[in-house]
Amino acid sequence: MDKSITKVPETNDEIERCHEIREYVLRESFSDVGMKLNNYNKNHPVHGAPNVSLIYIVNNEVIGSVRMDKKYEHLNLPDGEVRLALFAINPSVQKAGHGRKFFEEIKEWCKENSIYTIHTNSRPSSHIFWSKVGFEDNTWDEKGLVDSEIQMTIRL
Ligand SMILES: CC(C)(COP(=O)(O)OP(=O)(O)OC[C@H]1O[C@@H](n2cnc3c(N)ncnc32)[C@H](O)[C@@H]1OP(=O)(O)O)[C@@H](O)C(=O)NCCC(=O)NCCS
Repeated sequence: MDKSITKVPETNDEIERCHEIREYVLRESFSDVGMKLNNYNKNHPVHGAPNVSLIYIVNNEVIGSVRMDKKYEHLNLPDGEVRLALFAINPSVQKAGHGRKFFEEIKEWCKENSIYTIHTNSRPSSHIFWSKVGFEDNTWDEKGLVDSEIQMTIRL
């Protein structure tokens, strides 16, 4: 597989691309399951500290993005835990192993940042993917439970 880098977006181009991928991919896949994601606001404070966005670059092209959340709505996670959200791979290169590779690099980033527990809220359409990369079903946020999502956790 081609050489890849996972990093925090720094340049304006990287930041724009991070939002573009997220907005496009997630809007399309949410509409698949009859949900709407039409209120994405790239300037919303939830995208800023203490939450962190990461991008995945292959051959100098940003093809993936994710947000690692410490604080979200009612959540304020303890040290060492994070919620993974808005994980997306550019549709033109999906099903080529990039999602798996990006997640491997996210795990390394987590360990470097003393994070050893990752939670996520999976939609049914991505549940197989999350199971394949090591997540297990786990009700980690009882208050945030909704019918359209399956709560999952991986411990590194
Ligand atoms: C889900 C997503 C991230 C997967 O990325 P990808 O690059 O296509 O995944 P990979 O090619 O690395 O696949 C890894 C494994 O998961 C499987 N897989 C990936 N997506 C799958 C799906 N939707 N259904 C079933 N299996 C899937 C692959 O077949 C592969 O299995 P294998 O290793 O046994 O061959 C990507 O499809 C995506 O961005 N989807 C839209 C956004 C989304 O649903 N995000 C996740 C929730 S926020």
